[in-house]
Amino acid sequence: KIVHVILSGGVGSRLWPLSRKSKPKQYLELFDGMSLFEMALKRNTNIASRVIVVGNKDNCHLSKSVLDDSKVDYIDIVEAIPRNTAAAIAFAAFASDKEDVLIITPSDHIIQNQGEYQNAINQAIEKARENYLVTFGIKPLKPETGYGYIEFNNDEVLSFREKPNHVTAQEFLDRGNFLWNSGMFCFKAGVFLKELRLFEPKIYETALKAWENNNEGILDETLSRDIPSISIDYAVMERSKKIKVVSSGFEWSDLGSFESVYDYLASQGYPIDESGNMVIGTPNYTSFIGLRNTIFIATPDANLILQKEHSQEVKNVYGYLEKHL
Ligand code: GDD
Ligand code: MG
Repeated sequence: KIVHVILSGGVGSRLWPLSRKSKPKQYLELFDGMSLFEMALKRNTNIASRVIVVGNKDNCHLSKSVLDDSKVDYIDIVEAIPRNTAAAIAFAAFASDKEDVLIITPSDHIIQNQGEYQNAINQAIEKARENYLVTFGIKPLKPETGYGYIEFNNDEVLSFREKPNHVTAQEFLDRGNFLWNSGMFCFKAGVFLKELRLFEPKIYETALKAWENNNEGILDETLSRDIPSISIDYAVMERSKKIKVVSSGFEWSDLGSFESVYDYLASQGYPIDESGNMVIGTPNYTSFIGLRNTIFIATPDANLILQKEHSQEVKNVYGYLEKHL
């Protein structure tokens, strides 16, 4: 069986005030009236016969309503507290048969050209059936420090380097044999669990205990606290000897920050003034004077004005509000 696992645990703090805890970015209907979550689901309905969503209790009702409308066969796993991607993927693997091939995707990416996507997925499924852990590599366009990099030779992974600094990222681009890690993976449930147990036995054991005590898919908070919070990249992908990479030809964009939203919208012909300023969220006439590369974001109860180069700092505002409001 082929199972599509959607990770939907993030709050999207770098897209505040568009993204809120009660309605994170993957559920906003930003594009053609469809949410990124719906797009992720639709992209894989011809490929997988079951969907597993791993989300959190603040917003699982949002994924549930989309899934109920879509009539797909699905399992909803609700985390009491987020314990990062190694554990989130382990829960999906525990809920599957050992031989099931899992396609793991985030719920907040924009992917164009479905044909190329399908082609990459088919290649990955073939390798997953041969007991490899497969990642999807994307040709890097700039020295982005928010991504993982894969040093590759054909489908072999020479090294896996999570979030390098700017100088190192530029070096990777210059050397030419590095791809971005898209954050999508494909492997058999049993193969992943075996590697997780080998490299991070504590995550394996504590996550298994939390899973075994779930209440209709809802995990126990006290047991979940014991699970080390480590991403799949650090826990398994950087260490396993069973990794393969599929170089993917589809256009991929991670809508992680306002800078990437800006770049995406600009590429779609969204209006920007002659100094590079952009307005999001209001039809009101808005004028910028003496400002460059500024984004104005309006929502009914909060506005944000930022220079796009400072997009990574938005999470500080979110953190401040969380503490003080
Ligand atoms: N259910 C659940 N629980 N989901 C989670 C959790 C969790 O505890 N933590 C993260 N996620 C989800 C996020 O919502 C997102 O969809 C995905 O897992 C990846 O997590 P991020 O926090 O966005 O990771 P990242 O952006 O720092 O890095 C990863 O993605 C990059 C590409 O977007 C890495 O895989 C990088 O190597 C990669 O380049
Ligand atoms: Mg991300």
